[in-house]
Amino acid sequence: MSNTVRLALLFLGPGSTIQYSQEVTAVLHNVIGQVKVALRVSRVHIMDIPCGDMAWMSRFLETREDVDYTGMDIVPDLIENHRKKFKHKTNWRFLALDALEEPLPNGTDIIICRMMLQHLFLSDIQRLLSKFSQSGAKYLLATTFSRLQKNSELATGRSTSGRFRQVNLEIPPVSLAPTLCLARDGPPGNSEGQCHFPGLWRLPLKQVVPCSRPQNFGIAKFGTGNISVSACVRWSF
Ligand SMILES: C[S@@+](CC[C@H](N)C(=O)[O-])C[C@H]1O[C@@H](n2cnc3c(N)ncnc32)[C@H](O)[C@@H]1O
Repeated sequence: MSNTVRLALLFLGPGSTIQYSQEVTAVLHNVIGQVKVALRVSRVHIMDIPCGDMAWMSRFLETREDVDYTGMDIVPDLIENHRKKFKHKTNWRFLALDALEEPLPNGTDIIICRMMLQHLFLSDIQRLLSKFSQSGAKYLLATTFSRLQKNSELATGRSTSGRFRQVNLEIPPVSLAPTLCLARDGPPGNSEGQCHFPGLWRLPLKQVVPCSRPQNFGIAKFGTGNISVSACVRWSF
């Protein structure tokens, strides 16, 4: 293993360990089952952005005969390592790619974006979500911190490694329309404060944006008057 790979693995954090990823593994089994039914297909193609060290994902994939897999990461040595280690897996492929700057391959059913967006600036999050929307993929499973009340910008500074803050994808400025489903993805013995969630969205994404005029949907409020709804759903991201 090269020094660059060792360095990359240092920044992956505990969330990428097999122990931490029990919940997301169960979620992924479930999601794949549901997506196969929804798309009426017998196998699915997953695009994993970013794939990181493949610690938990390779274990997951070993148990599925019905998944074609593309893992991507910005660290070329990490990808080279995966290509060597998993060369016997003919339906797993690996791409060294900066997901923000380079075009994404098309022909995917599910994009998985676990534990990446919280390391990006808000404008880059929106840019990447827009790329996911335009990729032709059908579903997105992405980490969101649903309990967070207010999103903040990523701190800038000299050290860029490990930069992190929580991001809730359903509140401004990202404002995605609600997920199809949310599940837990937390550490063993899950302490609530650390819990984040893989959210499943249909692609292309929809965004909840303020309307210029409040919309009156005529929803009866305890039998008297109507509720004015001052937000609406934009149909593409
Ligand atoms: C916290 S890890 C998450 C890995 C994996 N999704 C998981 O669940 O274990 C974040 C990964 O994002 C990769 N990364 C950061 N910026 C990227 C970019 N612009 N394009 C592709 N990968 C990127 C890093 O190299 C690192 O491997």
